[in-house]
Amino acid sequence: MTKPKIAVFASGSGSNYQAIFEAIEKGELICDLALLITDQPSAKVIEKAQDNNTAYAAFQLSDYATKADFESAVLEQLRSYKVDWIILAGYMRLIGPTLLQAYERKIINIHPSLLPAFPGLDAIGQAFQAGVKVTGVTIHYVDEGMDTGKIIAQEPVRISSNSNKQHLQEQIQRIEHQLYPETIQQVIT
Ligand code: GAR
Repeated sequence: MTKPKIAVFASGSGSNYQAIFEAIEKGELICDLALLITDQPSAKVIEKAQDNNTAYAAFQLSDYATKADFESAVLEQLRSYKVDWIILAGYMRLIGPTLLQAYERKIINIHPSLLPAFPGLDAIGQAFQAGVKVTGVTIHYVDEGMDTGKIIAQEPVRISSNSNKQHLQEQIQRIEHQLYPETIQQVIT
C-alpha cells in the first residue's frame, strides 16, 4: 500500500516539524514527508529541512497580487508532490478558500492552548496573563476561522504557581512533540 503524503507548513523554528520528521524516521509515524512549505524565507525551520534533506519551498505573500494567487502557487507545488494532507506546525497565517477547498478536511493544525480558550497569537502568553491554572495543547481540523475547526485531540498542562512563561512553553512543546505525530498517525490512516 502506498503511504499517505504529507506537507508540513511552518513559519518559525520548526521544532514540531523536527518531531514529525523524527517520528517518521523511527517508524512511529507511517507516511511520506513530501515537503516543507514556509511563508517566511528566513525561518529557522528551513535549516532543519536542509539538514534532514526534506524538500522545501518558500512562498512570500508579498510576492503575489492577492492571497488567492499566493495560495494557488502553493497549491500547484502541493499537487506536483501529490500531497494528500497538510499539517500546520507553527504556520502563523490563516488558510484561505483556495487551499481549504482543495484540501477539504485534509488540513490539521496544532495550537498551544485548550481551545476554544486563547485562540490566535501568543496563546501561551494569553493563558499566563489570564492566570489560569490549566492550559494545554489542541490538535484540530482547519476551517475558515481562527483556530475554530473540529477538535481531534487535547492534552492539559498544569501551570504551577511558581511557573514562568518560558517554563510553560517548554512543558507545552514537550507535549506537542509527542501528541502531534501520534495524532497525525491516527488521522491519516
Ligand atoms: C507551536 O507551539 C504551535 O503550537 C504554535 O506555534 C509553535 C510553533 O513552534 N502554533 C500556533 O500558535 C498556531 N496558532 P515550532 O516552530 O517550534 O514548531
